[in-house]
Amino acid sequence: MTETPASHNSRATQRFPVVVVGAGPAGLTVGCVLRAAGVDCLVLESESREFVERRPRAGVIEEPVVRGLERRGLAGTLLERARRDTACEFRFDGGRHPFGYHELTGHHHWVYPQQFLVTDLVREYADMRGGAVRFGVRDVRLHDLDGDRPSVSYVCPESGRREAVACDFVAGCDGARGVTRAAVAGRARVSRHDYGIGWLALLAEAPPSADRVLFGCHPDGFAGQMPRSPEVTRYYLQCPPGDDPGNWPHDRVWAELHRRLGAAGAEPLTGGPLIEKRVLDMHDYVTEPMSFGRLHLAGDAAHLVAPIAAKGLNLAVHDAFALGDALVDRLLRGDGTGLAGYSASRLRQVWDYQEFSQWLSELYHGGASGNPFRAGTALARLRRLFSSPATAAAFAERYLGTAARY
Ligand code: APR
Repeated sequence: MTETPASHNSRATQRFPVVVVGAGPAGLTVGCVLRAAGVDCLVLESESREFVERRPRAGVIEEPVVRGLERRGLAGTLLERARRDTACEFRFDGGRHPFGYHELTGHHHWVYPQQFLVTDLVREYADMRGGAVRFGVRDVRLHDLDGDRPSVSYVCPESGRREAVACDFVAGCDGARGVTRAAVAGRARVSRHDYGIGWLALLAEAPPSADRVLFGCHPDGFAGQMPRSPEVTRYYLQCPPGDDPGNWPHDRVWAELHRRLGAAGAEPLTGGPLIEKRVLDMHDYVTEPMSFGRLHLAGDAAHLVAPIAAKGLNLAVHDAFALGDALVDRLLRGDGTGLAGYSASRLRQVWDYQEFSQWLSELYHGGASGNPFRAGTALARLRRLFSSPATAAAFAERYLGTAARY
């Protein structure tokens, strides 16, 4: 493990039972669960509060996650402001194919931009539950994670001095490019999958063109529409991995969206200025195990799931519930069973979601693979969703995250 021994000039002057690295959905949820139980913790975040509260990321939240947040008193604003989605629509073979998952299952999806959730969680953690947090910290380092007395140090943005914090446990919630993931490099098994596909991720200042998520499975590539708010809509366009967003001027983007999402009887898309244009290279990874000594990873720090099935945010919060509860059991009741089983039980759901993303990826992208055999099987997979009630039910269960327990 690439951890550094605590240096002499950073002797720990502070002590918290838990240090949480990262104030994203995973870290803040762990913090809120701990504070609700009266466990002290310190959240360390490299960005400012304003930055994390405005950073647009994911936005689709599963009903079981919302229920989990609600049980922990964390869903008040979400329940007031989030939209409930009851159906999505596939567009292929020139036609519209609505998939009414609420009608089928009684369950729905919630649409709530991740930055709103982060804003709610920061307020709850820091302002309501009195949780300690330091924003803007630099160069976080982990020390002595294999012993009984780990510590975390960081450079304080105000003084420029390295501060050290002694703790019992570290929650690694600092995302895909954080320091906790780097700390287990060489020790963890990291399984990676590259789809060989790019998505041009777009935010348009335009109302949604349909009141539901649209999946365009077109021979020229996938296109998606995800309504975010009455003013802003997210679109995706499949493109070569590593493509330059500069290759996608305004007119080309809208022409491709019109073509790939076009269908008989569909309203034309409502255009508007593109306020974000990024190319995402579709890939996944899973880090095993998710626990190393006193360090437990959660969210993107442990696993990344390409946005194909909108599962990343949901897995992050599921991890955080499990880790928060396990830390409370261990610290308040001396019961370490939850922590000991944390990695194995979370990995069951993580792999299940990875497999679903892969299945869905073939459905979205197979038709544009240039391989007629894959195009034929992808189309068969699409048609089966609408001809076989058992397939439709299985898809809905996995899409909505309502499958059995893990
Ligand atoms: N030290 C402290 N904080 C850090 C460091 C570091 N070295 N590196 C990163 N961070 C912070 C980031 O600024 C961010 O606020 O850790 C936080 C990690 O948050 P996310 O990346 O949102 O990860 P997570 O909480 O696991 O949530 C996963 O977020 O990435 C999206 O779409 C993804 O929906 C998924 C969800």
